[in-house]
Amino acid sequence: MGKDSSHGRSQSLIEQEHSIQNLRSYITVKLQQSGIADSDIETDIIIMEALNLNRVELASSTKLIIPQSQLDTIESILNRRVQREPLSYILGNQPFYGLDFSINSHTLIPRPETELLVEEILNFTENIRSLSVADIGTGSGVIAVSLAIMRPDYGFYAVDISETAIAVAHQNANKHKVSHQITFEVGDLFASTTEQFDIIASNLPYIPTDRISKLEKELSWEPIQALDGGLDGTQVISKLLEKSTLHVKRNSTIFLEIDNSHANTLINLAKRIYPLSKITLKQDLQGFDRILIIEPFDATPT
Ligand SMILES: C[S@@+](CC[C@H](N)C(=O)[O-])C[C@H]1O[C@@H](n2cnc3c(N)ncnc32)[C@H](O)[C@@H]1O
Repeated sequence: MGKDSSHGRSQSLIEQEHSIQNLRSYITVKLQQSGIADSDIETDIIIMEALNLNRVELASSTKLIIPQSQLDTIESILNRRVQREPLSYILGNQPFYGLDFSINSHTLIPRPETELLVEEILNFTENIRSLSVADIGTGSGVIAVSLAIMRPDYGFYAVDISETAIAVAHQNANKHKVSHQITFEVGDLFASTTEQFDIIASNLPYIPTDRISKLEKELSWEPIQALDGGLDGTQVISKLLEKSTLHVKRNSTIFLEIDNSHANTLINLAKRIYPLSKITLKQDLQGFDRILIIEPFDATPT
């Protein structure tokens, strides 16, 4: 099943009886040769996608006559993946909070850490009805859309500086039937709204500019404005905090996804902007500070 590109398709995947095991080894070896770490997991995803199998069908399949068209699909996925294009972009979707989201190279690939942000907001708003929520830097819309599904009586404002990202977010809201709850806007942070919100949720870029070129190859496929947090990585989030003063109410809460190393800088800034604030930090599964929760006027009774 080996392929030497100089010999063309004859040494590629050709229609014959393939065992799933052989197909697996062929794909895994190709991925490993390109330095891809989770080659086993990705191999199964590629086979399921190309052969249109679910996990149970994959586990129970042994020998298959695989049509050439499906083998060509595998080759074409592999050809892109070995260039280190993320599998999520090749397949055009990514799971988030148990939901399927469309994504493309104009949107960040949603990360599991951001599910924690959604989880924290859901915990915080349990039993509270009819809130207004801003999702600043919505990307593919994962935060606003997941929350809208879970909180059908809430209204959302979702903004992104990238028009193409907003188009994808819109598509995801339609797909999950929550577009009536969300107002989408293209803009720089709060520049396109005068509204005040009960909840401000945001996962803005937080990688320092000079670290971006040193990151793993897959990240070079993601949009730069979704990654680049400026000189020390806190510039965009700091600007959001400064601009937020015109968009909070007395009982508002701000939820920010942050990099572990920025916690002190951002806490100090939040305290300077909101001297009466109550500030809470939540850790991710690795124990890193990940979610910064700011209640600007600490409404908690003492
Ligand atoms: C880290 S990505 C997060 C996307 C999405 N919220 C998620 O969690 O998957 C940051 C997003 O913020 C957007 N962004 C960056 N600077 C912005 C700004 N000044 N105003 C609005 N959006 C901005 C980027 O285009 C990108 O979509």
